[in-house]
Amino acid sequence: MTTRLPSTGATEFAADPSSTCRSDEVVVIHRLFRRLFAEAPDLVRKVASGDTAHARHVAKHLRGIIALLHVHHRTEDEYFWDVMTERAPSCGLHVALMRRQHDAVSDRLDIADALVDGWARRADDASAARLAAELGEIDRLLVEHLADEEREAFPVLDAILSDAEWDDIHRHARRHKPPLPIFVLLGLMIDSVPEAERDAWFDTELPAPIRVAYRMVGRRQYERAIQRLRTDRTRAVTPATA
Ligand SMILES: [Fe+2]
Repeated sequence: MTTRLPSTGATEFAADPSSTCRSDEVVVIHRLFRRLFAEAPDLVRKVASGDTAHARHVAKHLRGIIALLHVHHRTEDEYFWDVMTERAPSCGLHVALMRRQHDAVSDRLDIADALVDGWARRADDASAARLAAELGEIDRLLVEHLADEEREAFPVLDAILSDAEWDDIHRHARRHKPPLPIFVLLGLMIDSVPEAERDAWFDTELPAPIRVAYRMVGRRQYERAIQRLRTDRTRAVTPATA
């Protein structure tokens, strides 16, 4: 649960008295993105120079998280900002800030995506350093944006969007094929929930068949995939000759 600070424009729009905290569901996704992009530069640094096989594996994950963030921001762009402008016109400055931050992150994601391809082909030190720096910059922009969005936009959206509209947003988000293997994505999401809340989140937020499948096979798949992804190969691999 986040601590809600009032938006600076929050006193000037008509809040629905039945407003909810549905944006908390998005905060769970934000925690996932914080974690994914915080660790991304190190995933690149832990690939040994010349180890193109492992670089290709990490590159696949990086392309997945880049695509995932693009989809998340596009959904927010589609469902949040126009309606916020219309129903809470006094929040125009915050909407403009959110759009600007999304554009800035999107531009950097496209640059990183292009760098991933070159690095995956060569796994050379120069490409790795450039890619790790770009991912670090995305992480910096994202940390700033997510905090601003949760503070300035989410309390307003909770007040102006109905439950049916939030349901529609979630339905829309689920229509996209996940760009990461489903159990890997689910495991990352579960591990992004603070430990004290994790069991309750797992039991209340996931349908029973998913819980059973994850316990039976998903968790193991996730742990294997993550271990392979995070292994520091700079100590274990003799660089291949070109
Ligand atoms: Fe956002």
